[in-house]
Amino acid sequence: MGKGVTLWFTGLSGAGKSTISGIVAKKLQEIGRNVEVLDGDEVRLNLSAGLSFSKADRDTNVRRIGYVCRLLSRNGVIAISAAISPYRNTREELRANIVDFLEIFVDCPLDVCIERDVKGLYAKALKGEIPAFTGVSDPYEAPTNPDLTILTNTESKDESANRVVQLLYERGYL
Ligand code: ADX
Repeated sequence: MGKGVTLWFTGLSGAGKSTISGIVAKKLQEIGRNVEVLDGDEVRLNLSAGLSFSKADRDTNVRRIGYVCRLLSRNGVIAISAAISPYRNTREELRANIVDFLEIFVDCPLDVCIERDVKGLYAKALKGEIPAFTGVSDPYEAPTNPDLTILTNTESKDESANRVVQLLYERGYL
């Protein structure tokens, strides 16, 4: 069993966190690693059911995911979080608490996310139908010193995923 690590994806809704983390997870499973993906939408149906999108509840959500990632990654699992996790301080708190922690900034311009509007939520948020929507009416604090930035607007999905896998090699986790 290899060394565990928490891969913390952060970025706007629609930036590609779930897509890229899914591809990364598959690649890692193919080389025999144990992987768990904690995806924002799925966590909110289970572990964080009932939480709102207030700052306090987003922080609670992110800390819960971080807690699970810590348990998994200290036991050899590659734990991947794919939640917006909009607040820099909260992410830094996790970095301080999780020994093996890599922050991946899934960077995509807001106007491109709005154009993609995979879930149709930006259209609603722009009409004011969803309050406190990240990037529209709620903050997103981009990482200032991420371990890796992937540019989903200009790289192919496979290219971005390969860069994440490459980072794991470089840092000694594969
Ligand atoms: S986080 O801020 O707490 O990290 P999380 O990743 O769990 O967010 O959930 C984000 C997802 O919830 C979005 O991709 C979107 O599908 C949905 N969502 C619903 N309301 C909001 C909102 N107000 N802001 C952002 N995302 C929202």
